[in-house]
Amino acid sequence: MAKLDGKVAVITGATSGLALATAKTFVREGAHVVITGRRQDRLDAAVAAIGHDVTGVAGDVGEIADVLRLADVVASEFGRVDVLVASAGVWTWNEHIGDVTEESFDAVFGVNVRGTFFTVQKLLPLLSDGASIVLIGSGAADKGDPGTTVYAASKAALRSFARTWTTDLKERGIRVNVLSPAAIDTPAFADLPPGFKERIAARVPAGRLGTEDEIASAALFLASADSSFVSGIDLPVDGGIGQV
Ligand SMILES: NC(=O)c1ccc[n+]([C@@H]2O[C@H](COP(=O)([O-])OP(=O)(O)OC[C@H]3O[C@@H](n4cnc5c(N)ncnc54)[C@H](OP(=O)(O)O)[C@@H]3O)[C@@H](O)[C@H]2O)c1
Repeated sequence: MAKLDGKVAVITGATSGLALATAKTFVREGAHVVITGRRQDRLDAAVAAIGHDVTGVAGDVGEIADVLRLADVVASEFGRVDVLVASAGVWTWNEHIGDVTEESFDAVFGVNVRGTFFTVQKLLPLLSDGASIVLIGSGAADKGDPGTTVYAASKAALRSFARTWTTDLKERGIRVNVLSPAAIDTPAFADLPPGFKERIAARVPAGRLGTEDEIASAALFLASADSSFVSGIDLPVDGGIGQV
């Protein structure tokens, strides 16, 4: 039997990259996925690429009105959520403390922290007992790589959310875990300066960048009954770069 047979999964920021790969994997495993992203054209393309058992809802997780609209669509079309993957995130890698502005700080925390918080809070009434919440963190949260100050702190907040929500939601049997990728070859790497990807890959003990499908496999594990006794953890999927 498929691992997510008949489940309803909401995945934010899933028109590209590792969350799109996760959406495809979940559908292959029997789920109906509701995916989000800000740009309607990308959303339409992602829905077409997934092909079936998919619903697209355009929206910015940093805007509460958009999150409420997502909750309304899910409530009216499905009435429940069994798996929630909060992946929508903004990555900054070249802003040292002196470069950070109020605007850039708020932009990162507004999506990564506030957006994740209110996505989970507004969908909470729809979460079924025993649901699985997966927060997409980052290996950056445990490192001190230069230029990542605000981003790394924002992802560290998700690690804290997972601990507290695990106890807040234990009466409903809802599991909350963080999946922390690092060095995954996604479109987010497209704008990096020449040689940047190669320098990261050289630091990974696995000797290469990770693939979107390698994150999708880990997300499937955390979303499904395969991880039924796994709660409140931070699972690094990073080829070892954060472990050595
Ligand atoms: N790639 C890595 O090595 C890596 C490492 C650590 C953590 N991560 C985390 O993994 C997640 C996905 O990263 P990725 O590399 O797969 O990125 P990606 O390919 O750039 O995809 C990002 C997705 O999020 C959507 N998005 C961005 N901001 C949004 C917002 N405010 N509201 C709703 N959707 C939004 C984008 O669509 P629109 O732009 O149209 O909204 C797109 O679908 C992020 O949280 C990132 O921090 C990635």
